[in-house]
Amino acid sequence: MTRTVFVNGQYLPEDQATVSVFDRGFLMADGVYEVVSVLDGKLLDFDGHMRRLARSLDALEIAHPMSDADWLAAHRRLVAENGVTDGLVYLQVTRGNPGDRDFAYPPAGTAPTVVMFTQSKPGLADNPQAATGLRVVTVPDIRWHRRDIKTVQLLYPSMAKMEAKARGADDAWMVEDGFVTEGTSNNAYIVKGGAIVTRALSNDILHGITRAAVLRFAREAQMTVEERSFTVDEAKAADEAFITSASAFVMPVVAIDEAAVGTGAPGPVARRLREIYLEESRHTAI
Ligand code: PDD
Repeated sequence: MTRTVFVNGQYLPEDQATVSVFDRGFLMADGVYEVVSVLDGKLLDFDGHMRRLARSLDALEIAHPMSDADWLAAHRRLVAENGVTDGLVYLQVTRGNPGDRDFAYPPAGTAPTVVMFTQSKPGLADNPQAATGLRVVTVPDIRWHRRDIKTVQLLYPSMAKMEAKARGADDAWMVEDGFVTEGTSNNAYIVKGGAIVTRALSNDILHGITRAAVLRFAREAQMTVEERSFTVDEAKAADEAFITSASAFVMPVVAIDEAAVGTGAPGPVARRLREIYLEESRHTAI
């Protein structure tokens, strides 16, 4: 089936949608994005994603191309037109098309480019990997130092993902100064003695929308949460490990650099948080 995608206010068949070769997103990775998950045709954590989009745009001084109401309408129309029950909506905003290549930003008033598309993933919440868990390897974190901005500069995370696959693993955790920053496209956690440990918010990591929700639910369920950095050795000696993201929700990690974490099987804290997150998020989805 040909998808309907959104480009600069128009809904078009994917094979008729185009962006200029001079677009700053294409030439300079000068753009930001969001990924909102869809369950039962509804959007999860939509307001959180809109807040982070605004923050990313402001950090890069890219004009806001649409109101939150327009974003919501566009998300809903794409979900409906593409018949998405479970899946994702991807949106990207770039600094637009200045008509040529130049390191300097284009003049104020140059329209940002907006692209949106859906990815249908039937059974997204029943991913069998939740029962087996992920195996991760560690790689150095050599990304730039504004990882809190959700830019489309994803080459290094892609390289890290490929290295993970080459080493027989599912994903990579990035490490800086001995401490885990985050996964290639997710936030990283360990559980020790019942406490959930995850790196504190700073420019070193993306401020995950799923992270915010999961930590809120954990605290509401009287679980202990420690927002602090942890080392690779501490992670290998943990009782459990897991990751969170809009597309994976809460996903257990069962091995780090081939060392089994805990029993080597998904642990009860990750399992419980996944249940709570899915239940609460479905409840508040719009
Ligand atoms: N990735 N850290 C990084 C580096 C990420 O790319 C992501 C999300 C997260 C988790 O953020 P959230 O919970 O808001 O999804 C953390 C998305 C899913 C992606 O690139 O596809």
